[in-house]
Amino acid sequence: MEKLRIGIAGLGRLGKVHANNIANKIPNAKLVAACSIALPELTYAEKELGVTRTYSDYRKMLQDEDVDAVVVVTTSSEHCWQIAAALDAGKHVFSDKPLGVTLEECKMAQEAVERNPHLTFMLGFMRRSDPSYAYAKEKIDAGAIGTPYMVKATGIDPESAVEGSIRFAKTSGGIFLDMAIHDIDLMRWFLGAEATSVYALGTTFKHLEFKDAGDDETGVAIYQFENGAVGSIHVGRTAPHGYHVETEIIGTEGSIRVSPVPAKNLSVLYNGQGVLTECVENFGTRFDDAYRLEMEEFVDCVLSGRKPGVTVYDGTMSTRIGFATTKAWKTGQIVRI
Ligand SMILES: NC(=O)c1ccc[n+]([C@@H]2O[C@H](COP(=O)([O-])OP(=O)(O)OC[C@H]3O[C@@H](n4cnc5c(N)ncnc54)[C@H](O)[C@@H]3O)[C@@H](O)[C@H]2O)c1
Repeated sequence: MEKLRIGIAGLGRLGKVHANNIANKIPNAKLVAACSIALPELTYAEKELGVTRTYSDYRKMLQDEDVDAVVVVTTSSEHCWQIAAALDAGKHVFSDKPLGVTLEECKMAQEAVERNPHLTFMLGFMRRSDPSYAYAKEKIDAGAIGTPYMVKATGIDPESAVEGSIRFAKTSGGIFLDMAIHDIDLMRWFLGAEATSVYALGTTFKHLEFKDAGDDETGVAIYQFENGAVGSIHVGRTAPHGYHVETEIIGTEGSIRVSPVPAKNLSVLYNGQGVLTECVENFGTRFDDAYRLEMEEFVDCVLSGRKPGVTVYDGTMSTRIGFATTKAWKTGQIVRI
């Protein structure tokens, strides 16, 4: 079987997940190289994943002729130049979200994709690969809820992870850019339309450190779409019960809800305290399958010449909407997109 030879950049929290999937779970892919500015991550790649070619300089990895494709899982501000440099070096590219942290650099990455049409580029909006979200999309496209006209999306990180969120609050870009980007992409995907205006509010009741950092621990935004549809997003940092991600799509003939109870598994405990379902703990466990399936899709697209469903334009548009949401929250005004 032909194998796609992949070099990965960034082996932090999520990079290790992708690296493990490529090395151990995707039969037609091979992890041949790894790059990081952190030495322990390179040692991890050598010892745990058997990678023999490691680089601390990204551009050197791009000169490696045995690398067919690059997977970018570095800090978000590094994504765009690394995407452009890899494409211009003749490598296919998978980049995790967000595409970039400014609109200017997103456009620069977009231009690199456009001048290299013979190469595959895919952005890691992994919720689209999650079996439940993919099923919801299939049902909607088949007309199961009529015409979708509203999406309500909730994404709340577990309280158990709040210390890390507080630590990164000053540099995260704010709650909407940091957290809502997946929900923004899902709204556009399910409604098949672009957002035209947004109004947003934030509040902080529990951890005043968020306010001190110029952020909020809870954010709410409402959107108008070009076809008249509407959307709402609720993002937060303090779910006491676990990682709460839930999406509802409402149409003229019905509605579909993805994980109204974000259950850890199918077990339900009946005892003196009531009927209990445990909540999934974090994004890694909730989207474990999705991370593997999106990488399988990327590899298959490169090997078969098929174009991925998630494009560079999805990255630019989501970032544009994320910035507009942040502006609405900061100014208290309705922002046209
Ligand atoms: N799709 C998702 O659900 C999801 C979840 C978590 C993170 N992410 C995204 O994945 C990316 C990585 O997030 P993370 O949580 O793993 O961060 P992280 O800080 O744990 O890891 C990033 C790693 O990139 C490496 N790095 C930074 N600059 C580099 C460079 N110039 N060259 C080579 N290596 C470099 C660092 O050594 C660091 O360890 C971010 O863009 C983040 O937004 C996506």
